[in-house]
Amino acid sequence: MLGLVASAAGGVERWFRTGLAEPLARRGWRLAVTLTPTAARWLEPELPGLAGLTDLPVRWTSRLPSEPKPHPVPDAFAFAPATLNSLAKLAVGIGDNQALTVLSEALGRRAPLVVLAQVGPDQARHPAYRGHLAVLREAGAQVVTGGPEEVLGALAVFEARRSELTAKRDA
Ligand SMILES: Cc1cc2nc3c(=O)[nH]c(=O)nc-3n(C[C@H](O)[C@H](O)[C@H](O)COP(=O)(O)O)c2cc1C
Repeated sequence: MLGLVASAAGGVERWFRTGLAEPLARRGWRLAVTLTPTAARWLEPELPGLAGLTDLPVRWTSRLPSEPKPHPVPDAFAFAPATLNSLAKLAVGIGDNQALTVLSEALGRRAPLVVLAQVGPDQARHPAYRGHLAVLREAGAQVVTGGPEEVLGALAVFEARRSELTAKRDA
């Protein structure tokens, strides 16, 4: 199972479903999709299509304390795309929305995490950015800066491991 988290970086509205979520679902991942509130607004027309890829609800709000957790705990995570804003919040442990809450916990558990940082040249020169990247890398996150194809490539490593485990179990 994969925790697939997106924030509001330009282009996400075009490629998140067709370029990332659909290929991952086809490759056998059970998807737990969580969006930042802004990404959820941008992806509104995509929500029915995303919902059709998984048996789990697509999330962007937190649950009430009286409600059960809508997602089980995923085995691995992809945070794609990660804005300067959300990447910074993750690095310092701010969980002011459901997407960041999920990611902060994943980072704390040292769960496998691929982060697709998508920042513009001026944003990348923000004085705190390099430090935030370093924090994520030190915690074991794999940070990539290409596009969704690079996330798919990085996750292939976990898929190979999953196939090995399944083969061992079935042997
Ligand atoms: C069209 C558009 C494209 C944007 N692209 C980026 C981007 O590539 N990277 C980024 O860090 N912020 C980008 N932003 C700014 C973020 O959307 C903004 O910082 C937002 O508050 C991020 O919210 P989130 O991190 O909670 O999703 C863009 C904004 C707009 C309107």
